[in-house]
Amino acid sequence: MQVYLDNAATTPMDVHVIEKMTEVMHDCYGNASAIHGQGRKAKAVVEMARKQIAKTLNCVGSEIIFTGSGTEADNMALRCAVNDLGVNHIITSNIEHKAVLDTAKELEAKGLAQVSYVKIDEYGRADVKDLERLAEENPKSLISLMHANNEIGTLNDVAAISKIARAHDCYFHTDTVQTIGHYPIDLKTLDVDFIACSAHKFHGPKGVGFLYKNKSLRIRPLMTGGSQEGSLRAGTENVTGIAGLAKALEVASRNIEVKIDTVQRTKAYLKEQLEKNIAGVSFNGDISNEGGLYTVLNVSLPPHDNASTLLFQLDMNGICASGGSACNSGAVGSSHVLEGIGHPIDRSAVRFSFSKYTKREELDYTVATLKELCKNP
Ligand SMILES: Cc1ncc(COP(=O)(O)O)c(C=O)c1O
Repeated sequence: MQVYLDNAATTPMDVHVIEKMTEVMHDCYGNASAIHGQGRKAKAVVEMARKQIAKTLNCVGSEIIFTGSGTEADNMALRCAVNDLGVNHIITSNIEHKAVLDTAKELEAKGLAQVSYVKIDEYGRADVKDLERLAEENPKSLISLMHANNEIGTLNDVAAISKIARAHDCYFHTDTVQTIGHYPIDLKTLDVDFIACSAHKFHGPKGVGFLYKNKSLRIRPLMTGGSQEGSLRAGTENVTGIAGLAKALEVASRNIEVKIDTVQRTKAYLKEQLEKNIAGVSFNGDISNEGGLYTVLNVSLPPHDNASTLLFQLDMNGICASGGSACNSGAVGSSHVLEGIGHPIDRSAVRFSFSKYTKREELDYTVATLKELCKNP
């Protein structure tokens, strides 16, 4: 049996997205910057996609800047805040995605910004009291705290963080790569400066995303050499990818409450079956419906003989899962997130992540396999 439980790393593409992209590949091959008919046709695809995405997020089209990835969007937010908005202090946490963490560290190493790390609790949630203190001591900072953690699923209280940011004249970036397409996001209600998106996390294509940038901000491009994306990101647009991104968000946003409920049940079922079958199992992060991302269940396993090769053994049995984020998947226990929440080093952790395509039989097979692997002779 082949089982795919690594949807937080990437998702299989939705058939409607593939259809849309195929159509665009066939019919809209012009360069969106060209002024002739084919160029205008491609440009129309890009602008329709932008308009549609902006409508879904309740913002304006000019606030959406298409990028090549979520990583690029995060980089833009942090680097442009420092380069163009006068930010010289970044407040973040030590369990952010590396797109934020490594960028903040690099800006600090270059002497361009100082970085402070907010305290996090045992679930990996940013401590808002500590954030308030840091923001008060460092007005005009950039606060960069993710909406949902990609390894353990814990959701931050972004509405509370936004209030703190505004009260202390700070900018606020939240990495929403794991939540766009999974929860309704309304940018008229959520007051933020930057959010990041990546299409492949919600059944769209890889290699395309966007940065939302609040229209009040004036930034300069990181990539120069063309006037694309309102002169904020040079380079010929990935017209097919952008059309796929918009279609993926459209599909994901349709009946989103039903999808949330279905996948939440999938997660609850796996949790229940693991508890029934594996003695000493526990879960990392906040696994409640309100406090945790419904697509992720990070499982903590008691010491057992297969611990060091667990992901490999799961793979040998046809099960795709991760130890942490995709880039950390080879090495169980090497995750900066698990370290950040104090996960005991004698226990191993596996991240199972779900989508609308996950089936109960796949979960049953996974539990039975894991039970065998975790047995001590
Ligand atoms: C929270 C988070 N931020 C950023 C990224 C990077 O997105 P991309 O794969 O598009 O570079 C990921 C992907 O793993 C993620 O989970």
